Amino acid sequence: MKSEPLILGIETSCDETGVGIVRGQTLLADAIASSVEEHARFGGVVPEVASRAHLEAMVPTIRRACETAGIKPSDVDAVAVTSGPGLAGALLVGVAAAKGLALSLDKPIYGVNHLAAHVAVDTLEHGQLPKGCVAMLVSGGHSSLLAVEDITEGVVPMGNTIDDAAGEAFDKVARVLGLPFPGGPWIDKAARDGDSQYVTFPRGLTSQRDLERHRFDFSFSGLKTAVARWVEARRRDGEDVPVNHVAAAFQEAVCDVLTRKAIDACKDRGFEHLLIGGGVAANSRLRAMAEERAAAAGIAVRVPRPALCTDNGAMVAALGSELVRAGKSPSPLDLPADSSMPITEVLN
Ligand code: KG4
Ligand code: ZN
Repeated sequence: MKSEPLILGIETSCDETGVGIVRGQTLLADAIASSVEEHARFGGVVPEVASRAHLEAMVPTIRRACETAGIKPSDVDAVAVTSGPGLAGALLVGVAAAKGLALSLDKPIYGVNHLAAHVAVDTLEHGQLPKGCVAMLVSGGHSSLLAVEDITEGVVPMGNTIDDAAGEAFDKVARVLGLPFPGGPWIDKAARDGDSQYVTFPRGLTSQRDLERHRFDFSFSGLKTAVARWVEARRRDGEDVPVNHVAAAFQEAVCDVLTRKAIDACKDRGFEHLLIGGGVAANSRLRAMAEERAAAAGIAVRVPRPALCTDNGAMVAALGSELVRAGKSPSPLDLPADSSMPITEVLN
């Protein structure tokens, strides 16, 4: 029997320099260098800072991944890299590194879609993907519902955010509440001691009228503004802001809409599996609510462990591995760093 392919994956679409090594569907190494602290004082990712950090971290992170996996670069069967979507300058660093590596090792290169990689990473945790599933990707940059039959063939977009991404809403509300960046984990933590019913914040795009046009779309900008107004009003009246309660009520509103629409999407497609990925999938309330509501609807939930949900190199290697295993042709060596790579393209 031919052994499973050994794939090295490189991710640089945002602020994490990730290098993952996968054999078949087995994770061997997942090295990460994050520039998140360099962006913290700006309250968001600064593209130029991210690109420079990728450049500095790239070679050491590749080395670290190879050491952890106990392999030499020349052992790999193919190099996979995030081709897009993402920050142009940041992507360019990863794509250039991957090209250099593939060229010097004389190995094929696969320039893959970051969003499809967020889906494929689940193979490392739960094995083969189900034949049909809805993937909900929620992070600082994206909030999408996708129908996935075969990840190596592409995904069908069902819905998207029409304004802020879910993680972006977490980050902005955290800022309003005086919590550090990135705000998601802080809100998650604060909410544990809060009363989610303390205030009822709006659920975007859930009215009957909105559902007619935006059944599977999300909107978090109104929610973010509602929280900011509520907090301002309290401060204006000289009252304390109950951070834990506001965090819990905000989180409840986000998770309510996300899980409701995700389950509706599964029902619409007749799929019995819901996969959740992206940084916000680390949210404890989202995981619990998704499990509870999906179980009631006869749907199984697959969520990779938090370290695999946030951006990393393993997800890129995982998708590369699926493509190699499916016999897909590699990318040309002049493949682009494609900041607006469409979600429907798995491979550039
Ligand atoms: O996937 P990711 O690492 O990077 C992007 O592609 O954006 O996601 C980062 C986002 C941030 O907005 C962060 O606040 C959010 O994921 N996040 C969370 C949690 N952990 C990370 N949001 C809610 N709850 C969490 N526990
Ligand atoms: Zn991502």
